[in-house]
Amino acid sequence: MNIRMISKLAAGAAMLAMVAGTAKSAEQVEVLHWWTSGGEAAALNVLKENLQKQGVTWKDMPVAGGAGSAAMTALRARVTAGDPPTAVQLLGFDLRDWSEMGVAANLDDLAAKEGWDKVIPPALQAFSKYEGHWVAAPVNIHSTNWLWLNKAALDKAGGKVPTNLDELITLLDAFKAQGITALAHGGVPWQDGTLWEAVVLSTGGPDFYKKAVLDADPAALSGDTMKKVFDTMSKLRTYFDPNFSGREWNLSTALVIEGKAGAQEMGDWSKGEWLRANKKPGTDFVCIRFPGTQGSVLFNADQFMMFDVGGDAEKAQQKMASAVENPAFQIAFNTVKGSVPARTDISDEKFDDCGKKGMKDLNEASTKGTLMGSLAHGYAQPAAVKEAMLDVITQHLNGQLTTDAALKRLPEAVAAAK
Ligand code: BGC
Repeated sequence: MNIRMISKLAAGAAMLAMVAGTAKSAEQVEVLHWWTSGGEAAALNVLKENLQKQGVTWKDMPVAGGAGSAAMTALRARVTAGDPPTAVQLLGFDLRDWSEMGVAANLDDLAAKEGWDKVIPPALQAFSKYEGHWVAAPVNIHSTNWLWLNKAALDKAGGKVPTNLDELITLLDAFKAQGITALAHGGVPWQDGTLWEAVVLSTGGPDFYKKAVLDADPAALSGDTMKKVFDTMSKLRTYFDPNFSGREWNLSTALVIEGKAGAQEMGDWSKGEWLRANKKPGTDFVCIRFPGTQGSVLFNADQFMMFDVGGDAEKAQQKMASAVENPAFQIAFNTVKGSVPARTDISDEKFDDCGKKGMKDLNEASTKGTLMGSLAHGYAQPAAVKEAMLDVITQHLNGQLTTDAALKRLPEAVAAAK
């Protein structure tokens, strides 16, 4: 082989490498999400690694802040600038809002090929589809009406789990007597709302939740049952520690993990933090339905909406959506995240006791008609109404509104936001 041939071959190889390189870098997803806590990042890694193995490059766009409030602001800025990310973590009504603006990609062919219609629960499909077309791939189902207890503190308090609000107050008093923070809470609107919606369900039951939260019925929002809800919120506030204001949810979880607090009301993403700290359900912590809400499930599901960015990105988007719905991935991801699968055909075998309970509760609630969307996590009301309600809830919890004022303000705020 002469020198000219060698250099020709080398040039050819370099060209091939370049072409391959281009093809590879074209298969990239830029993913906007708010999974920045230890447990959340661990779960996200399952997806990142899965895609990397398939040759899809992951461009991370994390925007810290639970429930995605900051992420939504970042998304608006990117879309306004005409440069949306390829895949975006979205919840409930936000999926509808973005779909309405015509920016979503269409996943119908993939969904048909993989039979999503048959395995994704209808409660999720209602948001994953827009005008009958698949626009998002649901990753999981979370639920917000949980209470997480430090097992040692619970045992010290007699070991009995509370089954209603009165028993909860008794237990919180016992935690207080142990010299620990009774209820770890972070004073941020979405967290206030997460606690509030559990108290609404516990106080009034599922029918009242539907009326007050899903229908935003003015009478339900201002009546006697709602008065009890706000009074309970004021009572629960007396069990917070002085540093609660503005604290992120995972830092509150850490207080319960370390035994500095007895309990936290939070969605099951909280379990991701416990697992990340090597703690075991039943041994180190106990998961129960928020007292008085047994039999009902307030759900929220993370979904990845694919934005219609055209060109090469589509292939990578399809790979990502397909990876997300893969049954093995559903198990690998959700056992780390704390959520339960977004498909109905997954066995609970690989899930821990909290996960098994989550799946059983979900099935039962879905059959009984007590599976209802979470307000704080976007599945009960469009963003404007949600924000208006959270505003009143937070102001009341912070003592800026009396209970009477909150009862008057809540239906007014909803009406103004509609
Ligand atoms: C999301 C969870 C997330 C939590 C806290 C919720 O809205 O659905 O996936 O872990 O917010 O960031």
